[in-house]
Amino acid sequence: MPVTTVDLGKRSYSIQVRTNCATKLTAAIGKSCRTDRLFVFYDANLFALHGAEIRKALKARRRELQELVVPSGEKAKSPGVLKKIYGFLLDQKISRDDFILVCGGGVTSDLVGYAAATTLRGIRWGVVPTTLLAMVDAAIGGKTGINHKTGKNLVGAFHQPAFVHCDTRYLHTLPPREFVAGLGEVAKYGGLIGPKMIALTQKYLSSADPHADQPLVRLIHASAAYKAEIVSRDEREGSLRMRLNFGHTFGHAIERATGYGRLRHGEAVVLGLLAAIELSSLVNPRTAKKLRDYREMVISLIRQVKRVEIDEKAVLDAISLDKKRSAAQLKFVLLQGTGKPYFADNINMSQMRKSLRAMLACYKVHGGTDAPYSGRKRA
Ligand SMILES: NC(=O)c1ccc[n+]([C@@H]2O[C@H](COP(=O)([O-])OP(=O)(O)OC[C@H]3O[C@@H](n4cnc5c(N)ncnc54)[C@H](O)[C@@H]3O)[C@@H](O)[C@H]2O)c1
Ligand SMILES: [Zn+2]
Repeated sequence: MPVTTVDLGKRSYSIQVRTNCATKLTAAIGKSCRTDRLFVFYDANLFALHGAEIRKALKARRRELQELVVPSGEKAKSPGVLKKIYGFLLDQKISRDDFILVCGGGVTSDLVGYAAATTLRGIRWGVVPTTLLAMVDAAIGGKTGINHKTGKNLVGAFHQPAFVHCDTRYLHTLPPREFVAGLGEVAKYGGLIGPKMIALTQKYLSSADPHADQPLVRLIHASAAYKAEIVSRDEREGSLRMRLNFGHTFGHAIERATGYGRLRHGEAVVLGLLAAIELSSLVNPRTAKKLRDYREMVISLIRQVKRVEIDEKAVLDAISLDKKRSAAQLKFVLLQGTGKPYFADNINMSQMRKSLRAMLACYKVHGGTDAPYSGRKRA
């Protein structure tokens, strides 16, 4: 059964990964919802595509729905939109027995999850992640929050959901670039988990139909299970959970250096993964051979990452800015081999520059040479 558990004692919850399975969703809501009404939030793009069918499934239990469609896009993770959500919840006199359901990508679950965490000091909530990135990452682990003008995700709270319900049918409408972004996080798990996950991802990447449900279910389940295990052991990111930042020190710096929004977060992660692989090989040349197949897989994703100008110095400056903000953030997650991550906090500027340069050279040659993963059958 494609179900995995985040094991947090009384706050444990399950992550379901299925296809066309509205009945399991309504059952999960039935278990969690103590009142006869349900607060439902939808990402605007998702609502236009799937709102009617989700609403129909939710109404089947004759529960009163209080619905709000929230704007799509990173800008929605703002104090302004949050204020509107508070207004909506409090005007409807939400109580602590009520339940909030969030349907959308990582933006919507971060934003509405934070509203759930802070309204009346915490309302229980469940998530229907509808992007690949949210299914394998953002919806799991209870990190919620909004952006501040000084940086991303700087205002937030830990608030674990009561369930995560992934249904691959929503991915059929996901734009190709969003698919690549989600695959960036999946490829991250390949480095962390090791050969089995890499083989599963390679198999998926070489398949003719990227929307085939069963391969997607397997890929999402394997990714979600790994994150669930890490969160179960280190909910508050004391140390272990920080390994999920593999590829992200470079990735975040690339996002900042290119101007937020030019690359999707997951696309920047793909580039960050290659830079981290190069750095791992530089620090310990014997790992280069062990990482060869994994490196090839990441390059196959780079072919689908949109080509944008990336200034080497701007990326290094962004990493230094991170360093000033928190020494902990500059612990690089590197690999001794696939499935063998470790933390390295003694990386110097010359090593960073060399590995970044190697990645940028590869991106220049391969970046954007393949169409992003699309619904079309590939030859
Ligand atoms: N909380 C965490 O642990 C965590 C982890 C990783 C990322 N994040 C956050 O997640 C966000 C990125 O999430 P994302 O990549 O899901 O982006 P997103 O939520 O912006 O969604 C991407 C796009 O897809 C659209 N969309 C959503 N579902 C769709 C569907 N089924 N069909 C068609 N279009 C659909 C959205 O409207 C949006 O335009 C960032 O803000 C990031 O900070 C959080
Ligand atoms: Zn990420």
